[in-house]
Amino acid sequence: MGEELVIGRRSEHSGAGKSRAIIPGIALFSLAILALLQSLSAAEIDESKLPPPAETQVDFARDIKPIFQAECLRCHSGERPKSNYRLTSREEALKGGNDGLDILPGQSARSPLIHYVARLIPDLEMPPDGKGHPLTGEQIGLLRAWIDQGVSWETNAPEPKFEFLATPIVGFTSVSGDSHKFRELYWQREDWNGGLDEFEMLAHPSLDSKLTVSGRFLLDDYKVSLESRKNELGFVRFGWSQYRKYFDDTGGFYPGFATNSFSLNRDSHEDIGKASVDLGLTLPNLPSIVLGYEYQYRAGNESTLQWGPVSDGTTTKNIYPGNKEVSERVNILKLDLGFEREKFSISDNVRLEWYDLSTRRLNGTSYTLGTTNISFADARESTSYLQGANTFHVDGQLTSWLFASGGYLYSKLTEDSSMNVSYLNPAALDLTLPSWGWQAPRLELERESHVFSLSTRVGPWQGLSLSLGVQQEWTRQTGVGTASNSLTLPFGPIYENWLGIENMFSDLDRSILTREAALRFTKIPFTTLHAEGRWQTEDLGQYEQETGSINQFMRHTDASTDLKDLRAGFNTSPWTRVSLSGRYRHYESETDYDHLLKKTGEGYPAFLRWRESINDEYETKLALNLASWLKTGLSYQYRATDYHVASYPVTTNPATSLPADITSGNNLQAGTYAAHIASFNATLTPWQRAFLSSTFSYENARTVTAANGSDAVAPYAGDIYSVIFSGTYALDAKTSLSASYSFSSGDFTQDGLTAGLATGIDYHQHSLQAALKRQLNKNTSVGFQYRFYRYDEPSSAGKNDFEAHAFFATLSLRLP
Ligand code: HEC
Repeated sequence: MGEELVIGRRSEHSGAGKSRAIIPGIALFSLAILALLQSLSAAEIDESKLPPPAETQVDFARDIKPIFQAECLRCHSGERPKSNYRLTSREEALKGGNDGLDILPGQSARSPLIHYVARLIPDLEMPPDGKGHPLTGEQIGLLRAWIDQGVSWETNAPEPKFEFLATPIVGFTSVSGDSHKFRELYWQREDWNGGLDEFEMLAHPSLDSKLTVSGRFLLDDYKVSLESRKNELGFVRFGWSQYRKYFDDTGGFYPGFATNSFSLNRDSHEDIGKASVDLGLTLPNLPSIVLGYEYQYRAGNESTLQWGPVSDGTTTKNIYPGNKEVSERVNILKLDLGFEREKFSISDNVRLEWYDLSTRRLNGTSYTLGTTNISFADARESTSYLQGANTFHVDGQLTSWLFASGGYLYSKLTEDSSMNVSYLNPAALDLTLPSWGWQAPRLELERESHVFSLSTRVGPWQGLSLSLGVQQEWTRQTGVGTASNSLTLPFGPIYENWLGIENMFSDLDRSILTREAALRFTKIPFTTLHAEGRWQTEDLGQYEQETGSINQFMRHTDASTDLKDLRAGFNTSPWTRVSLSGRYRHYESETDYDHLLKKTGEGYPAFLRWRESINDEYETKLALNLASWLKTGLSYQYRATDYHVASYPVTTNPATSLPADITSGNNLQAGTYAAHIASFNATLTPWQRAFLSSTFSYENARTVTAANGSDAVAPYAGDIYSVIFSGTYALDAKTSLSASYSFSSGDFTQDGLTAGLATGIDYHQHSLQAALKRQLNKNTSVGFQYRFYRYDEPSSAGKNDFEAHAFFATLSLRLP
């Protein structure tokens, strides 16, 4: 089913993050060097250095095509081949590229293509240094013989002009138990389902043009894409997809109540989709232009973890389920320009984004078991923004050992939000009680960012290459807004702004400097060593103020964060049957807060003076090919994080205002996290007809938070393991049988029952699938599938358990 689509606010810094670039000074300098080298290379070639032509009769498909496929087509085929040179047909190969003719039939010693692959011309070695394997003397000999013998090409039947494939499917699923949980876990609904599982149509009206239409049409799950392209002209692409995401709507679970959990009993789901059109122009020797429009949407309602309080008169626990209606839309207009010439590439990407989100939450705020009085908070929020961004990027392989790139991103955002909250009295219709609420009709935000980046890569030299990069970002954000209260009296007037109007201001200035360095060493036989480092300094100035009659609030905080991320590792494969890799990472972040001004108490977060987190990770992987029919892999990972904080001393209990020694303010260990993750997999092909594979993985993790003697803060710990088996067996040339089984079990809990709720989950999940497939004739095959699912969740006393059976039949049709 659909992969998770993330829509909504995207980082305005994407684009420039991929730091590739060039300093104009270096560019000019290297252009000069380049011109010099090019004039040198025009000099006579010493043909005696060329390997001799092979003395056999060359067969294109057997001798030449594999060389092109392995070493050349990556760059010399498709829509925008390097140097406008395609090695995809005899006609194209003979036509030459930007530099003119490359193959002179019958004259291999004088053909530039041979000079390039024999690496006789500096900076025109093919494949380029570090981007493939230099051809052997034998391969060059074959290419020479092929040119001398007249450049024969494949005489196979031409590519099919038309192809069609469709797979209708129909099936039935029955679920006993919690069908909402089934929908959430398996992204499908019970009962009948069917449609087109897959369809595809491919047409080649001519050699250099192509039309494809493909997609899927099932219940609540659609996808269509259409693409038409013509080499050296352009393309048109259209796509639409939509899928449904389901939510289980049960809230929390408290074993001590007579009614120990609640369900809203609604079919909670969201439809998530995306439609896009792209128009591209790919004329040779001109910048490529892609103009695109994209529309993303999400609508429906989802479950939230804002569980409301339920009481039995003595105990109150937050277990009443929460739900939220959501409508989200994004319109994106983009223009991408790209230009590549010899060693340089320049691109500019413009992006305009309109975003719109509105939500409505209805949360239970008080409910007493055995009564009908439930009160709600109804919160409606809306946000819309307009964001524009431009990214400019240039890079170049200046010489065979020097690559440089540079980029600049500018982005600006203006956003409007509003919020309206009303508290409805118990049994909302009881008009004898007052109800009240508050609203922030207009919250405005503006943000502007500039990001510059430069990077370079030097080498490889003696197997050593070094990359360096630096990026600077400046962001400024300002926000203003107002808020007020209202009160509705029973049978009486509505008082707007009954406590006056609040004004809110918030300003943020941020500057981030990032430096990166990476080293790679490949000179040790069969081994690669690498080390990378990233250092980041972030300076933040934040000012917040609220004036008016309800909450007076002001603070001004400067924060500076230093971040260090160091990694090192190796990869080795001394025998073809064994490969081993290891990696270590140390990640450290430290923030100093300077609270220049704070009014109203010592509220969080103006209470912290310093904090630090230190993270270490080790990982190792071993792959063993024990026999041609048995491949195995083992991996192990360990991660640990330590959190520390320092605060102002707290010597009164905020709840009772009595003196208490809460903290002296010194460096405190705030928490620790540690996890072990191990996995093993094996693939077996004992006979040609059978294929078996299995994976086992295990994870154990533990998070401990400084509890300060509170029962509500318990360690969060547990383990998860999963096993997957799958196998295929060919009964005969036309019939195959396949089966898979997966099991996962987790017991991850936090026992905070005395002071709050037991959170976390204890579950066992099984799924089994068996399928039979039979080819009826050249164009048709049929398939039958049976699936079984079972889910138990002891941590919610079986409320979420289900068992399901499903049968599906498919027909695959292929033309011609
Ligand atoms: C990683 C990409 C890459 C690979 C792989 C590659 N090339 Fe190239 N090729 C280029 C680039 C870039 C140029 C343009 C170089 C220039 O003009 O400075 C080029 C240019 C050429 C040219 C000159 C085309 C013209 O403009 O007339 C020929 C011929 C050529 N390559 C042949 C080959 C062959 C044969 C192979 C495989 C053995 C190969 N290339 C593999 C990137 C590649």
